[in-house]
Amino acid sequence: MTTVLLVDDVHASYGRFDVLRGLSLRVAAGELVAVLGPNGAGKSTLLKTVAGFLTPRQGSIQLDGEEIGGLRPPALLRKGVAYVMQRSSLFPRMTIQENLELGAYVRKTTAEVRQDIERVLALFPRLAERRQQRAEGLSGGERRMLEIGRGLLLRPRLLLLDEPTMGLAPLVMDLIFDKILEVRAAGTTVVMVEQNARRALEVSDRAYVLEQGQTRVEGRGEDLLASEAVRRAYLGSGVAGR
Ligand SMILES: Nc1ncnc2c1ncn2[C@@H]1O[C@H](COP(=O)(O)OP(=O)(O)O)[C@@H](O)[C@H]1O
Ligand SMILES: [Mg+2]
Repeated sequence: MTTVLLVDDVHASYGRFDVLRGLSLRVAAGELVAVLGPNGAGKSTLLKTVAGFLTPRQGSIQLDGEEIGGLRPPALLRKGVAYVMQRSSLFPRMTIQENLELGAYVRKTTAEVRQDIERVLALFPRLAERRQQRAEGLSGGERRMLEIGRGLLLRPRLLLLDEPTMGLAPLVMDLIFDKILEVRAAGTTVVMVEQNARRALEVSDRAYVLEQGQTRVEGRGEDLLASEAVRRAYLGSGVAGR
């Protein structure tokens, strides 16, 4: 299996204290990998570092075997790293169509982009109906879909999703997970940080549980779900119910 993302012994911090403390993980082409762990474990920091918003102080980050640690976000976008942040990053006064077009700004051929926008809108029919409306009129779930769709317009080599279902009602959550599965089925490699551990383990190929900036457990989603020790120690109430 081709490795798309390799994170090897990465240390990163916002100031003096390391938040990532020797974190390692590996993601193969076409995989959907979940990153779980308690609040403050460093999940968002991991994605920020891979997306170039933080520079690793130590360790290596490779995309398709090429070192990318320390590159800035624009360079990473050009290499096909799409990043959907934990907090909303839409342009509320712009239309859905315009928000999508922004996702393609590093792409070159307009005709292809136009086709890709249609493809993304086919994946999210709720957005298609409202493409000329402002993003501010969308519901929480629709905003998340628009952000994911905008990421897809990069034709990403790697799609990073930080808590794509946060704050959504259970039915909307299921819809978002279904869409993420469709994205993966179309061949996109996805790393997804999630609070909803049970659902994340159900849909993902593999998962990493982080604690205090390190990988504590790694395995196939179904194996982690089946492991009583893992459930009790790391997944807590996230697994108990929905
Ligand atoms: N911008 C920041 N400046 C300083 N500390 C931060 C910043 N963002 C996060 N942290 C700290 O880094 C640690 C990990 O945060 P984060 O990666 O957001 O955790 P998670 O996403 O797993 O909940 C926490 O202790 C948090 O307080
Ligand atoms: Mg976070």
